[in-house]
Amino acid sequence: MAYRWKNTLTRADATPYEEYVNRRQLMGGAIGLGLVGAAGMARAEDEALVPNSWDDITQYNNFYEFGTGKGDPAKNAHMLTTEPWTVVIDGMVDAPGDYSMAQIMETMTIEERIYRLRCVEAWSMVVPWNGFELADLLNLAGVQGGAKYVAFETALRKDEMPGTRYPVIDWPYVEGLRLDEAMHPLTIMATGIYGKPIPNQNGAPMRLVVPWKYGFKSIKSIVRITLTDQEPPTAWNKALGHEYGFYSNVNPNVDHPRWSQATERVVGGGLFAGRQDTLMFNGYEDEVASLYEGMDLRENF
Ligand code: MTE
Repeated sequence: MAYRWKNTLTRADATPYEEYVNRRQLMGGAIGLGLVGAAGMARAEDEALVPNSWDDITQYNNFYEFGTGKGDPAKNAHMLTTEPWTVVIDGMVDAPGDYSMAQIMETMTIEERIYRLRCVEAWSMVVPWNGFELADLLNLAGVQGGAKYVAFETALRKDEMPGTRYPVIDWPYVEGLRLDEAMHPLTIMATGIYGKPIPNQNGAPMRLVVPWKYGFKSIKSIVRITLTDQEPPTAWNKALGHEYGFYSNVNPNVDHPRWSQATERVVGGGLFAGRQDTLMFNGYEDEVASLYEGMDLRENF
C-alpha cells in the first residue's frame, strides 16, 4: 500500500471527553425537539466520529471465552494473565518463531485510530484505538511470495477463561483474512483504548481490528498468526456456516438470515438517537471497495 491512512479527526485536536458526552446529549435533545431528522443525526455523528465512553467500550463486550453475556467479559476477564505474552508467527514467513509482546511493543509505532465498530448483531460503537498496522508486524516476520491468507488464533486457557468450559464454539476462537485485507493500512492490531493499555475484556494484550468487517472478525487476545496459501477456517463459519461467511464485510444490503443489517443500534445512543443507517463497508467504502472489485458480495458474504 502506497499510503498511510490518516484519521479525519484525532483525539488530540478534538474536544475533551466530557464535551463529547455533553455534545451527544445536546444533539440527542435536538432530535427530541424535532429540529433535525434521524438521518441528519446519523450523518452529523459519522462526520465527527464521536467515540463512545470508556464505560460503553469496556462494559458491553463480546468475548465468549469469558461468558456469553454482554457484562461477563468485564466481570471475568481479569482472570487472564497477559504478562508475559508470546505470539507465535509461523507458516509462510522468513522469520518464524516466538515474538514476545514486549519485543513487539518496542518495535512497532503506536498511533491512534478512531474507528466505527459494527457488530453482526446490529449494534455499533466508535472506539479510539491505539495500535499499529498489522502490515508492519507481518513485514517484520517477512511474508513469503506464496502466502495468500493470514490465520489468527486466540489463547485457550480453561483455567483462566471460564466460558471455554462450555462447547459454545469449537475453541480456540480462530479467524482469518485474505493477505491483501491483512496488509491494508486500515487493518490494525490494537493494544490500547483512549491512550490506556487495552483492558482484558477488549482483547489484551493485542487484538485485531478490521473496521469494515463485522466485529467478530476482530479476534481478541491473539497467540498465533499463521501465513498460509489456504483460506483458513473461522470460528463462526465453523459453527454456523450459512449465517457467517469468511468475508463478513459490513453490508446493509445483505441481511443476516435471521435479521436485517440495514440499520444498527448505537450503543450509548440514548432513546431518540439510538438507531442509524448501516453504511456500506461500515463507512470505509472509499478505502476498501477496490479489494472486492468484480466479487459478488451476496455470494461472498
Ligand atoms: N474474539 C474472541 N476471541 N472471542 C470472542 O467472543 N467476539 C467478537 C470479537 N472478537 C470475540 C472476539 C465479536 S462478536 C465482537 S462484536 C468484537 O470482538 C467485540 O469487541 P469489543 O468487545 O471490544 O467491543
